[in-house]
Amino acid sequence: MSMREVIQASAILRGGGLVAFPTETVYGLGADATNPDAVAKIFAAKGRPGTNPLICHVADEAMARRYAATWPDVATKLAQKFWPGPLTLVLPRTDDIAGEATAGLATVGLRAPDHPLTLQLLRVFDRPLAGPSANRSNHVSPTTADHVREDLNGAVDMILDGGACTVGIESTVLDLTGDRPTILRPGSVAREQIEAEIGPVAVDESHHDPALPATSPGRQPKHYAPRAAAYRFDRQRIAAVLEFIVHQGGDPPAMIFIGNAPAQMHIIPLNGIAEIRSDPADCARTLYAVLRRLDRANVKTILIELPPDEPQWLAVRDRILRATQDLP
Ligand code: TXA
Ligand code: MG
Repeated sequence: MSMREVIQASAILRGGGLVAFPTETVYGLGADATNPDAVAKIFAAKGRPGTNPLICHVADEAMARRYAATWPDVATKLAQKFWPGPLTLVLPRTDDIAGEATAGLATVGLRAPDHPLTLQLLRVFDRPLAGPSANRSNHVSPTTADHVREDLNGAVDMILDGGACTVGIESTVLDLTGDRPTILRPGSVAREQIEAEIGPVAVDESHHDPALPATSPGRQPKHYAPRAAAYRFDRQRIAAVLEFIVHQGGDPPAMIFIGNAPAQMHIIPLNGIAEIRSDPADCARTLYAVLRRLDRANVKTILIELPPDEPQWLAVRDRILRATQDLP
């Protein structure tokens, strides 16, 4: 059954159509990265500004090398260690990749996604698959095929359903074009894991500090937000949270806690409490689905606990910082 779907998906892509595909991180909205007209459809379907470059998905290192103009030793080390997996490598691109896919940049973000259905598709299609997250621009990324339908029904020719994503937040993006490898977006492949393979790596701070202005396309601070007004809080400031809720009046908020909610939260009126297991991987896997569930329930205000400022929480914190504002 799935092979028939894969062949159908490949035919749609070869014809310049759009196919939503599963990965281990989030669902992607795919088009032939070598076809400018097909790539233009991605931006139209998402309502995404053309200045934001797309990741191009490949089956493996050999395929990545066909589309990278240079392939340094560090890329080999990282691909062998982390591919297929949630690590995107930014490298100079060849002319085969449509300039529209990379917002006119001379570089391309390449990654081999760790999902059997999509790896099969990439082998059959045998071209790079341009694919941003399959959500409307600025919405929360989709981690199930239903989430894709919510956002893009009718705008995509086919949705390959590969079940719920196991990682749940977008890949780590690592720029290999500068003097020092630089993490542009934190993800579940951590800085420490990368450094263990290739030595010192820089982190682009502007990327996970929403207070700083964006320095390059696609790195706007607010990017993964639910429709509800969303605020973050530290557990140490729970008294301020209670005050906010009481003074706000009106429709009570929903709250998301990392781990168990403190006892006093059960005595005030709320539009629901979600308690996500206090583990970075569990949190990453469920965060977007919880945000989407609250949006579907028409919750007006969401309060989200910010996990501690520790390396293992970096990627989840980054996504929560982008999705929320500080409590007023
Ligand atoms: O896990 C993921 O990365 C998912 C799945 C579908 O693979 N894709 C994804 O794509 O999150 P998107 O378009 O939502 O985010 C791509 C990020 C953006 O922040 C973009 O600016 C950055 O990667 N990026 C892509 N190509 C780049 C390039 N050539 N130079 C710098 N940044 C780039
Ligand atoms: Mg996205």
